[in-house]
Amino acid sequence: MPATRFADVRRFDELDSTNRYLLDEARRGAPDGVVVVADRQSAGRGRLGRRWEAPPGACLLASVLLRPRLPLSERYLTTACVALAAVEATAEVGGVALGVKWPNDLLAPDGRKVAGVLAEAEGDAVVVGIGVNVAWPTDDADLAAPALADLAGRATSLAALAGQVVSRGDLLDGLLAALEPRAAALDEAAGRRRLAAELRSACTTLGARVRVDLADGPIWGTAVDLTADGRLVVETATGRQVVAAGDVTHLRTTG
Ligand code: BTN
Repeated sequence: MPATRFADVRRFDELDSTNRYLLDEARRGAPDGVVVVADRQSAGRGRLGRRWEAPPGACLLASVLLRPRLPLSERYLTTACVALAAVEATAEVGGVALGVKWPNDLLAPDGRKVAGVLAEAEGDAVVVGIGVNVAWPTDDADLAAPALADLAGRATSLAALAGQVVSRGDLLDGLLAALEPRAAALDEAAGRRRLAAELRSACTTLGARVRVDLADGPIWGTAVDLTADGRLVVETATGRQVVAAGDVTHLRTTG
């Protein structure tokens, strides 16, 4: 791999959460570029306060520490960088074309989830964690446990999509190589414009019929745009709504 800012890669058999570990390191002043990877997590964190469940050794569980110099309103691009780098790496390493579901899931062409990204800030540092289903689940039988019932029919893995073993090490190397130019782009206005454009073209939510579950109930409509600060614009029967955070479901259209 060509030299990148990601020279300090810390590997663990087990952590509670790679994001938690790096947030603590960020508080102690760890520099931009530290990477942490774990084979398993006992308390993996997901979006909206959820847990991220993964059997030992089957998923890429990694976090990177970035200290981008950018306006707060464009911080969402830090998360986007990692999602876009993962799209590039999964195509190169696994031959699998993934799309980005707003705000930060990676979906297979059939809509099943392959990866999730979670960014957490600590001062000017942003820890971006990614969990990629590499070898698990192979099929819905892997999701039979009650704790995983929510994922049945909604999650798959790179190996299942590629029909072959995919190496977690190669995927991490590919991800970090693809992340380097994007992390550099965060520090320049022109770079951020490029990233925003790349996100628009990778974002399969745009143009989709969606249901968005918000704190005060669901809305339905067509996702039509992303704002300059990364929020989702949904055209509903009663007008446009701008969504900052929520659970999006892509709806299948009939006919
Ligand atoms: C989501 O889809 O809800 C986001 C999931 C992010 C999971 C990854 S796994 C590595 C990193 N460490 C964590 O505790 N969470 C992220």
